[in-house]
Amino acid sequence: MGDESKIRVGLLGCGTVGTGVLRILRDNASDIEARLGVKVEVVKIAVRDTDKPRDGIVPRAMMTRDANEVIDDPDVQVIVEVMGGYEPARTYLTRALNGGKHVVTANKALLARHGAEIFRLADDVHRDVIFEASVGGGIPIIRSLREGLASERIDSIHAIINGTSNFILSAMSTEGHTYGAALANAQARGYAEADPTMDVAGTDAAQKLSILIALGFGTDVPFEKILTEGIDTVSADDIAYAKSFGYVVKPLAIARAHEGAIEARVHPALVPVQSMMGSVRGVFNAVYVHTASLGPLMFYGQGAGMLPTAAAVVSDVIELGRNILRGTSGRIPHLAFHEGLIPQRALRAPAETECRFYLRFPVSDQPGVLASIAGALGARNISISRMVQDDSDGTAPVQVVMLTHEAREGDVRDALSTIGSLPFVRGPIRYLRIEEIR
Ligand code: NAP
Ligand code: HSE
Repeated sequence: MGDESKIRVGLLGCGTVGTGVLRILRDNASDIEARLGVKVEVVKIAVRDTDKPRDGIVPRAMMTRDANEVIDDPDVQVIVEVMGGYEPARTYLTRALNGGKHVVTANKALLARHGAEIFRLADDVHRDVIFEASVGGGIPIIRSLREGLASERIDSIHAIINGTSNFILSAMSTEGHTYGAALANAQARGYAEADPTMDVAGTDAAQKLSILIALGFGTDVPFEKILTEGIDTVSADDIAYAKSFGYVVKPLAIARAHEGAIEARVHPALVPVQSMMGSVRGVFNAVYVHTASLGPLMFYGQGAGMLPTAAAVVSDVIELGRNILRGTSGRIPHLAFHEGLIPQRALRAPAETECRFYLRFPVSDQPGVLASIAGALGARNISISRMVQDDSDGTAPVQVVMLTHEAREGDVRDALSTIGSLPFVRGPIRYLRIEEIR
């Protein structure tokens, strides 16, 4: 078991999250030692550019441009990967596991694409890979699904799991910020991915949802197959109309178990302002889990940013430290379930989703328009529950905005395609789903 007087860590990456790890290890050192029984010490740090100006907490003497120096250091017991991206992160983690290191990673993109291969290797070499920071930032949702809810049959998960998107929509709706200004602010605070389209186009949330589905339902759903729509098409008008109906637009990730199938989708949706989900603002995330015997549970906390994310990473280092000190590994399956012991479910077709819808039609203000829209909706069994139309000066398009009763998504898309080709429609029709989650 070697020297057990401390747990020695090598960092791959020292940007927003890596710097936070150093801070928490310094500021909470005595609590961490009291919980783990020994100290945690960072001994080597790989970055891209050793000359870059950095926070004073980053010890220059430990820095290298050569990640292999960290991975191959015989003193390092735990590799913490906080560099991001698919490569070289995948190669480094593979080398680290083969070299006998345990791994902590915050890299949901890597896990969503190559998790199965990485976890299989870790099992083969009797090492652990843990990843609390990969979903929900500082919220201990991975540990909760793997351990706290191990007795449960999960019915559904509704989550706000992209802090950048929630921060942007919140700034647009409560402070009247433009989309561009809000995104720049999220980037400046260290919330956004290196490529922020991963956040605003919904890819980051789809990657995280794929991890939650594996942990919650034991089913492998590749993130590329999840219906994914970003917040980048939500306009200030949609936010204002939603508000007038008593709703707020939130970036949701949803998974629900059906007989033999899993429904999975990532998209902005209207949720009631007076609901728990409606109250999750700024960079905060929330994961609402419904289980057969517990009913609803809500996990809430900061979903991105230096210290919340680093807190999750350090908690993983402590978990691995405990395993190392006890000479154990592989106690809990990486993805919560033992492979092959749970039937895989098919992904449900998005057209089968049933919910209420928000529809906005930019149209000419002329006789028969409302009747035509209502007729096309009615022909597909879609019933209107509420409606507003702007006053008009007779020249510019007017906005007709409707909320529907529950309808089948495939029917709504068909109806919108018919309506979109009518001559009075003056621009793209917008539609958003409504989730009455309380
Ligand atoms: P970041 O600020 O961009 O930091 C990335 C770090 O990795 C930098 O120190 C960079 O070096 C280093 N790096 C990149 N490529 C490298 C390479 N090939 N070799 C060696 N070092 C390399 O990113 P971050 O925000 O800390 O995010 C890191 C990871 O955590 C990502 O997987 C991200 O998805 C995940 N995460 C982030 C947050 C968040 O709120 N930021 C939350 C949850 C999860 P230089 O400093 O020299 O450029
Ligand atoms: N870019 C991510 C977000 C970081 O905004 O949620 C946390 O995973």
